[in-house]
Amino acid sequence: MRKAAWLILVTLLSSDGIGAQSWPESAPDYAKLHFIDKLMRQMTVEEKIGQLRLNCIGAQSPREQLLEEAGASTLGGIFYAVGRSELREFQDAALRSRLKIPLFFAYDVIHGHRTLFPIGLGLASTWDTDAIALSGRIAAKEASADGLDMVFSPMVDIARDPRWGRASEGWGEDTHLSARYTESMVNALQGATLDAAGNVMASAKHFALYGAAEGGRDYNSVDMSLPRMYQDYLPPYRAAVKAGVGAMMLTYVAINGIPATSNIWLIRDLLRQQWRFKGLVITDFNAVAELVSHGVARDGREAAMLAIKAGVSMSMSDTYFRDELPGLLQSGAVSQKDIDDAVREVLGAKYDLGLFADPYLRIGTAKDDPADINAEHRLHRAQVRDVARKSLVLLKNDRAVLPLDKTAVVAVVGPLAKSRVDILGNWSSIGSSAQAISVYDGIAHALDAPNRLLYARGADVTGDPLVLDYLNAPGANPADVEVDPRSPTRMLQEAMDVARQADVVVVVVGESRGMSYEGASRASLALPGYQTQLISALKSTGKPLVLVLMNGRPLSIGVEHQLADAVLETWYSGTEGGNAIADVLFGDYNPSGKLPISFPRSVGQVPTYYSHLNTSRPYQADAPRAVTSRYFDEAYGPLYPFGFGLSYTNFSVSDITLTRQSLKRGEALGASVVVKNIGQRAGGTVVQLYIHDISASISRPVKELKGFQKIMLQAGEEQVVHFNLSEEDLKFYNAQLEYAAEPGEFSVMIGLDSREVKQRRFELL
Ligand code: BGC
Repeated sequence: MRKAAWLILVTLLSSDGIGAQSWPESAPDYAKLHFIDKLMRQMTVEEKIGQLRLNCIGAQSPREQLLEEAGASTLGGIFYAVGRSELREFQDAALRSRLKIPLFFAYDVIHGHRTLFPIGLGLASTWDTDAIALSGRIAAKEASADGLDMVFSPMVDIARDPRWGRASEGWGEDTHLSARYTESMVNALQGATLDAAGNVMASAKHFALYGAAEGGRDYNSVDMSLPRMYQDYLPPYRAAVKAGVGAMMLTYVAINGIPATSNIWLIRDLLRQQWRFKGLVITDFNAVAELVSHGVARDGREAAMLAIKAGVSMSMSDTYFRDELPGLLQSGAVSQKDIDDAVREVLGAKYDLGLFADPYLRIGTAKDDPADINAEHRLHRAQVRDVARKSLVLLKNDRAVLPLDKTAVVAVVGPLAKSRVDILGNWSSIGSSAQAISVYDGIAHALDAPNRLLYARGADVTGDPLVLDYLNAPGANPADVEVDPRSPTRMLQEAMDVARQADVVVVVVGESRGMSYEGASRASLALPGYQTQLISALKSTGKPLVLVLMNGRPLSIGVEHQLADAVLETWYSGTEGGNAIADVLFGDYNPSGKLPISFPRSVGQVPTYYSHLNTSRPYQADAPRAVTSRYFDEAYGPLYPFGFGLSYTNFSVSDITLTRQSLKRGEALGASVVVKNIGQRAGGTVVQLYIHDISASISRPVKELKGFQKIMLQAGEEQVVHFNLSEEDLKFYNAQLEYAAEPGEFSVMIGLDSREVKQRRFELL
């Protein structure tokens, strides 16, 4: 095919919306194709199938066995091994094999590697793509310095149900925000070129819709209309593909009845054909075998067949590819092309990673191995402290209780106050809790006067036997939830005694990190255990009460919100979390974080997301007794809305100025506001722009984020914040899955959160 014709064809195939109308395929790399073809001609069937296996050391594949397989070229990559000398041994084995095909090494580096950044929800609370990129660059640098080539990150699943423990790992509830973050993270991890030490291949996950698992119950099914899928849930994965992500990890869940691992539509039609993804498609852990539990495969043989035919390139932690693919190929149930296509993708990834040119690119030589892998100088403390400060969200601050005075006597109370493990969050890669700064440590550094710092544990995170039995199951080391041998009453009493001696009480409460994790779905969103009683008891002392929340999901904390004078959401803020929190508590940093996910008032309100449809009978604030779409036994709307977060200063937002009243296609419409810092100190905030299509062929969300800008203003300073809107921002998928903007009236809304907005209307002609 001549080049021009080829480009036109590609353009037509890729014009499926989700951001990119014409997305010309990059020209083929002929040197790479030639290299891979030549290598494949020399490979046996066993060697080819071996490339499709990504395994970790474990009961199923002991270390010696993996070394043997590496030496026989019947293994493609290894995950969950780390450290240059360890990985060198495997690579040495691979290079002793007949064809010397290198292995690649992968790990779950989700929010940092040695230096732990805030968890996904924390990073997302920065509304700062540069901060996200910085965390990605540092993670890539540290991971590759430990010999890793690939990271199972970013996790880009939209999550609107806080019961799902994995909501903690992602970017929250919003499509636009998540897509922007995903793009930044993929670019940061992969750098300008993948074949350079310091850059790693990203593997975005979990394709697709994992966050929509019914009822927030992990691994549960997803049933979703195509317009909602395309409009709300798919864009972050698509953003990863557009940013050139090297790999995509599939989700465990079944989408409209078909598990992702065997879903031909998902992998072949959508990902490969419509989105023109050329990289690796990796299953999740053991997911091929789990096709049997899903009830779509009779046995492992059928499972392996379904997965390879659906377009999987690598199977994670599985034996069926190795054991069944040779027979399936021989019987004709699987074609040579099915296998070869997958092998080409694996070899292509290794080529892109620079591993054929230098299999030790990231592993280096023994003489350069670090003497101490945990050495302080290998951490990036200053950078993570800054990002962590940006991730903290001030949710309440009555009577300006915060910032605290550094000469005050401070009582630090709560089961998480001294925890250096929880503050790292889940998926903490190889970050060391010994190097983490707890909230207590951070406050101690800031006060620098041991006699003015008091402490009491006050309560355990939980004493519920059912929860302890699950989270502290044998093998959990250290135990996820520490249980104090003293009685709850005794601990409460001690906390009240300590509080009475202080000028202010900082109570650090929330969830142990294991509560917001894979497999850790909750039926309740309440603060667990006796922590609410602790807050109430502390309140009764009459001392100013500051609530520092450490948790991986929105909690239903209406009561606690009422009791506390100030509330600071800190998520799990990472290695320097305690210092970052102290920076905010004492006013060395003015908080500017904004929620990337709504906080429901109670679990019964879930799902609570700002971009819902209007319904036939929307709630009427001025007629609360009217029969409308609401829960009559609960106040309407979230406790804290999406995009919300306070500062130690105040900002005013002017009415919106539009550059025109009507927008023609191809033109731009400018919308601006003047934001003024009307408080006493410098501070930052996030100006958010939302749109609403007032009448369209399908009902459209009451608000949809389309732009945001983070600004810094000195006291008294004002700034014009300008956004440009075009037809592109007004497009959506209609019932026929056509991606287009429909003429008619639109609202444009601008504010500092999703609830309090200024509004203007305009028309799309
Ligand atoms: C998780 C993935 C993770 C993989 C490897 C799975 O259980 O769902 O997110 O990357 O394990 O650790």
